Amino acid sequence: MRQNLLRTEHSLLRYPIREVVEIGKKFEKLANFRMIWENIGDPVASGEEIPGWMKDILAHHISDTTTYGYTDSRGDINARKYVLENFSSDKVCTLDDILFFNGLGEAINKILNNLPKEARVLVPSPTYPSHATAEAMHAGCQFISYSLDPENNWEPNVEEIENHVHYNEQIVAILVINPNNPTGSVYQRETLEKIVAIAKKYDCFLIFDEIYHHMTFQDVKTTLLYEIIGDVPGISMKGISKDIPWPGSRCGWIEVYNADKDEGFNDYIHVILLAKMLEVCSTALPQKILPALYGHEKYPAMLEARIAKYQRRADEADAFFTGMSHVRVNKPKGVFYLVVELLDLPYSTLVSKNKDIRLELNRLEEAAAMKADFQFAYELMGAEGICVVPLTGFGSDLTGFRMTLLQEDDAVFTDTLERIGRAINDYY
Ligand SMILES: Cc1ncc(COP(=O)(O)O)c(C=O)c1O
Repeated sequence: MRQNLLRTEHSLLRYPIREVVEIGKKFEKLANFRMIWENIGDPVASGEEIPGWMKDILAHHISDTTTYGYTDSRGDINARKYVLENFSSDKVCTLDDILFFNGLGEAINKILNNLPKEARVLVPSPTYPSHATAEAMHAGCQFISYSLDPENNWEPNVEEIENHVHYNEQIVAILVINPNNPTGSVYQRETLEKIVAIAKKYDCFLIFDEIYHHMTFQDVKTTLLYEIIGDVPGISMKGISKDIPWPGSRCGWIEVYNADKDEGFNDYIHVILLAKMLEVCSTALPQKILPALYGHEKYPAMLEARIAKYQRRADEADAFFTGMSHVRVNKPKGVFYLVVELLDLPYSTLVSKNKDIRLELNRLEEAAAMKADFQFAYELMGAEGICVVPLTGFGSDLTGFRMTLLQEDDAVFTDTLERIGRAINDYY
């Protein structure tokens, strides 16, 4: 090519949740086995059935001609009404403050890419990688983060947040993921209120990724941003990928709060809307059927049964890992992931399924310096046929991995834990 085609910051573009899959697929071919995919939060891939009533709603709307046209750039009006009435609050948000996207993945990129390069968003560590990567790509350098503390149920370190915001004028927004991916924690209301107070004190806005707002275990209640935001400008992110087993719909939205309270914030939101207009609108079908799905009489029971299953899995996994040496777990309070920290993790190897995998692992491990937990994750795939995501892949300095609690089959889940446990013991 007559010009270099790579942006200088291209090396910051990472998505480890799917990157591990490339290697896992290769191993499957080399040793002719089926990997257990514990890397991705997709209930359908983990064997969850789609109930007949959901399929009926889809089938019915597929024969409705209006689902074939564009929607308003903000999103289908009935979907926005449903969201405002059921998931949001008209005290801080209006119909025009709700914008639909093709999944929150798109919303994350629009939110970050439409800020000036020098305006930074403070992200958590560990974090859902799309946020950190979008922040880094937008700024052209490493993302800036605050820690979630494993010694305090993975709650955000509020002091660290305040220090960052106080000493770095470029920070314009604080990102909170609650309930949290990857840790499964659901934050205390007081913690969240302190973060809102910091945003107010330093004239920043808030971004709360609340895509797991329905996914809390028994007796755990999540505090939503609109309940505590007061008059601070903010954005809540929600979507249907998690609480309806249909992540392939690619349907998420943002609720903008207190847009009228700050002119600069309002102008920035308008730019995001213009950027959406360039694409006309998001896919119409999932928006059109959103009210029918959430409003169906069988929806609450389906959600409850799914959450109960994740809670059972969390209990079993927590009991399994607690007490193992070199391991620390915090029992999730919601969501469908578990982070297993591997303390003082060395570089080591496991006995691979066959010689070809061993050679491939040697090649990988010699080719580039990698974090110890990436090596563990690759060795785990090669030895036990289980694919997890290394914890450092979530923008963390802590080593370990994230697995899901989605597995549909009880026996497979128990076997998965046993295989991981054996691998940890052998690896140390
Ligand atoms: C915290 C968080 N935010 C956003 C997303 C992206 O969701 P979507 O499927 O709407 O792009 C995910 C997906 O796993 C997530 O875990």
